[in-house]
Amino acid sequence: MKSKKAWAGLALAASLSAVGMAVGMATAASNEPIQPIPPAKVTQPAMAELGKKLYFDPRLSKSGFISCNSCHNLSMGGTDNLKTSIGHNWQKGPINSPTVLNSSMNLAQFWDGRAKDLKEQAGGPIANPGEMAFTHELALDVLRSIPAYRAEFKTVFKQDAIDIGQVTQAIAAFEETLVTPNSRFDQWLKGNKKALSKYELEGYALFKNSGCTACHNGPAVGGNSFQKFGIVEPYKATSPAEGRSAVTGKDAARFNFKVPTLRNVELTYPYFHDGEAATLTQAVDTMGRIQLGRKFSDDENARIVAFLKTLTGEQPKFALPILPPSSDSTPHPHPFN
Ligand code: HEC
Ligand code: HEC
Repeated sequence: MKSKKAWAGLALAASLSAVGMAVGMATAASNEPIQPIPPAKVTQPAMAELGKKLYFDPRLSKSGFISCNSCHNLSMGGTDNLKTSIGHNWQKGPINSPTVLNSSMNLAQFWDGRAKDLKEQAGGPIANPGEMAFTHELALDVLRSIPAYRAEFKTVFKQDAIDIGQVTQAIAAFEETLVTPNSRFDQWLKGNKKALSKYELEGYALFKNSGCTACHNGPAVGGNSFQKFGIVEPYKATSPAEGRSAVTGKDAARFNFKVPTLRNVELTYPYFHDGEAATLTQAVDTMGRIQLGRKFSDDENARIVAFLKTLTGEQPKFALPILPPSSDSTPHPHPFN
C-alpha cells in the first residue's frame, strides 16, 4: 500500500535520476537498475603496492599512530564503525567515515563531494588538524629519511625526489584495487537464480518498487549523484554538516549529500553522515519515511535488510604490508601534542 505522499516522494525521487525509471522494469539483468561490480583491473601493480604501504603507514601522521587504515579499516568494511571518527589527540570528528571500498566508483569524494577524485582526496587527511594533523612537508621529510622508501619511490616514479603528488597518486592506485566483486546479488544478476532466497528477492522487489533505486543504482548502488537528505520530511542531523552547499555556495544544494554506496552496507555501520542510525533496520526505516514518505512494516523492513546484506562482496585480499623501518634521521612522532 502506498500513500499519496509516498507517490509524491516516489515521483520526485524518480525524476531525480533517469535510472529511477528502471523501477519496476523486467527482471533480465541488463534491465536491472543495479549492475555487477567488475573486478579491479590492476594496471600499475608496483604503484599500488607502494600505495598500500602508505595507506597503512602511521608515520604520515603527527602522532605516528594514525594511518588511513585507522579510520578506514580494511578488516571492517573500510570504515571505523564509529559514529564519527577519532582524530589526532582523540579529537571527536565532525562526520562519519565513509567506506573506501569501491570508492573509485564515486562521482566525487567526501559526503559533499569536495574532492574530485581519490588522488585529490588523499592529500586531505594527512594535513587535516582533526585527522592526521601533519603537514605535507613533514610527511615528506619522514618518507625521504627512509632509504627503502626512497628506493621504492624511485623505482615506481622514475625520479629521485619524492613529492606529495607521488604519495597521493600511489595511495589512489592502491584504493583503486579495493573493489568487492561477486556478492551474492551480483551472482544473481549474472544469472545464478539460486544465489538469492525468495525472502531476499522480495526485499529487492520492495527496494526497487518503493523507489530506492531512484538514488541507489548503478554498480555501486549509489555513489553516482548528490541528493537531498530529507525530501518528504526534514532530517534532524546531529552534525553541523550542510552538504553540497558548502562546495557550490548555492542554497539549493543545502543538505544535499553524495548518495552513499550500499555495497557492503552490512559491514559499514553506523549509517548516515552523522552516524546516527546504528542499524540497517533504522536506516531503512528513516530512508523510507523521509525520502519516500513510506512507512515500511517490520516485515517489509526485514526483507529489505535481508536484500541489502546480499550486497556484501568479496573483500580485498592481500598480505599486510611490512613497512620499511625508520632511519636514525627520521623525525620523531609527537603522539601527545
Ligand atoms: C581520523 C580519521 C580518518 C583518517 C586518518 C583518514 N580518513 Fe578518510 N575519511 C574520514 C572521514 C570522517 C571522511 C568523510 C569526511 C567528509 O566527507 O567530510 C573521510 C573520507 C574519505 C574518503 C571519501 C570516501 C567517500 O565515499 O566520499 C576517502 C577515499 C578517504 N577518506 C581515504 C582516506 C585516505 C587515503 C586516508 C589516509 C591518507 C584517510 N582517508 C585518512 C576519516 C579519516
Ligand atoms: C532521493 C534519493 C534517495 C532515495 C529515494 C533513497 N535514498 Fe538512501 N540515501 C540517500 C542519501 C542522500 C543518503 C545519505 C544521507 C546522509 O547521511 O547524508 C542515503 C543513505 C542511505 C543509507 C545509509 C548508507 C550509509 O552508508 O550511511 C541506506 C542504508 C539507504 N540510504 C537505504 C535506502 C533505502 C532502503 C531506500 C528506499 C527505502 C533509500 N535509501 C532511498 C538518498 C536516497
